[in-house]
Amino acid sequence: MSPRELSGGEEGQPKRSGPAVAIRARRLSKVYGEGETAVHALAGVDLEVRRGEMVAIMGRSGSGKSTLLHLIGALDTPTSGTVSIARRRFDNLSDVELTLLRREKIGFVFQFFNLLPALTAKENVVLPALIAGNRDRLVHDRAGELLARVGLAERADHLPAELSGGEQQRVSIARALLMDPELVLADEPTGNLDTTSSAEVLRLLRELNRKEGHTIVLVTHDPGAASMAGRVVFLRDGRIAGELSGGSTKRVSERFAAL
Ligand SMILES: Nc1ncnc2c1ncn2[C@@H]1O[C@H](COP(=O)(O)OP(=O)(O)OP(=O)(O)O)[C@@H](O)[C@H]1O
Ligand SMILES: [Mg+2]
Repeated sequence: MSPRELSGGEEGQPKRSGPAVAIRARRLSKVYGEGETAVHALAGVDLEVRRGEMVAIMGRSGSGKSTLLHLIGALDTPTSGTVSIARRRFDNLSDVELTLLRREKIGFVFQFFNLLPALTAKENVVLPALIAGNRDRLVHDRAGELLARVGLAERADHLPAELSGGEQQRVSIARALLMDPELVLADEPTGNLDTTSSAEVLRLLRELNRKEGHTIVLVTHDPGAASMAGRVVFLRDGRIAGELSGGSTKRVSERFAAL
């Protein structure tokens, strides 16, 4: 099923065509709170991600990684600065347009999976379409295909509590892919997984990037995970503190240690 059928949109473009720049953030700042207790989570971040890139974001705890990802994903609004995805500036969009953009263009994967405990794996995967008002049976077929894609065809009717952490995260990746988003944003997707499950999840993300053309931004503490990305961007105290392209785990570790 095409993304057009899923989202009920108008004349579609070929898969993953569009502007060469997938994400553009300009002078992005985010201040939480006011006065003496204000926290400058981001302090003027410029970031550009090209379509089809896989970029890792690394930085110490509190450096602003999740804040940046939330702003890029339109889950939160910046104090100042602008974000655009596929050249559409968020600040020019209405709430409805923003919701549609988020729904159709962005898939989220979170550290704590965020699956609904009372729903089966397949029901969790289908949920974004239900929320979008699409009750088409084709959506169920696609959810089944995606669960097979992440190696969980046999687990479709299991509840999250009956799945391992790695399996739950793969369900959440299938859910993120339901609407065939161009962009996948993952915040510490392996943060709660053992080494084997982490490796599976990372391999899956890399495949989605290389074979299926999803643009991926991955926040991670793990230099091994980050080195799978084509480019690693380092954050320190809410600012970009450099980047590394095509770095080995060792080089990424060294740069991270020096932050
Ligand atoms: N809702 C909030 N209200 C107040 N301060 C916040 C809020 N969210 C984040 N912060 C602060 O903003 C800063 C950046 O937080 P952020 O969650 O982006 O860090 P992070 O790099 O993702 O850290 P971690 O690696 O621990 O997840 C931190 O100092 C944090 O305490
Ligand atoms: Mg975080």
